[in-house]
Amino acid sequence: MANRKYIVGNWKMNGLQSELSDIADIAAIASSHPTVDAAICPPVTLIAAASSQNAAFAIGAQDCHFSENGAHTGCISAAMIKEAGAGFSILGHSERRADQHETDADVKAKAEAVHAAGLGAIICVGETEEERDAGQAIEIVCGQLAGSFPSGADAGWLTIAYEPVWAIGTGRVPEVSDVAEMHAAIRSKLAELMNGGSEQVRILYGGSMNGGNASELLAVPNVDGGLVGGASLSAEKFGPIIEAAAAA
Ligand code: PGA
Repeated sequence: MANRKYIVGNWKMNGLQSELSDIADIAAIASSHPTVDAAICPPVTLIAAASSQNAAFAIGAQDCHFSENGAHTGCISAAMIKEAGAGFSILGHSERRADQHETDADVKAKAEAVHAAGLGAIICVGETEEERDAGQAIEIVCGQLAGSFPSGADAGWLTIAYEPVWAIGTGRVPEVSDVAEMHAAIRSKLAELMNGGSEQVRILYGGSMNGGNASELLAVPNVDGGLVGGASLSAEKFGPIIEAAAAA
């Protein structure tokens, strides 16, 4: 049976208290499409309010530290995001891999930490444009997946997001055939890395997904949903993606 589609909005460093009404509007659309799993990852400052105001809607974090606690100024632990109301965290987004120099080993440790706290994880992988042009995209992405892969992984708590770095926030989207090839490669790699259950792990596509291209992307084999940045910031833009997932 095909996996339920999973549509996750990543608000990145966007959103003040005054934008909480956008999450309420998105949650209302999601509630009318019960066949789709939808979620928003606001900045950490909005997690508590977003989760308490939208009890039936999934709220996630965008990152957390791999340690349980300690001398890590400015960092947030898995238990902290859980207490605030997050059910999961995005981990290893390419912006964090680039800006905060996160390594595969960091991402693996973070995923194990969120799992230990009883939360889910979305691990992001993706190649740069130079790597794709050099014909290395699959090798790079499967290498990131293997290096970031947590012990004890199963579909109950782990999701993978394939996000070509060059497609994020650029309006450029890979050819459908390239998305199909990469998601199939990730599926095979998951089978190698896991002791069964790899078919149930959802693999999201991310990078300039919007209401206009979501139907086509969500119809690609092994695309089980989307990780959406810019087009997740309002119900007007995110609603059509949830609707496309419901129709997929
Ligand atoms: P985008 O971002 O939809 O704005 O391209 C996607 C992401 O970075 O998760």
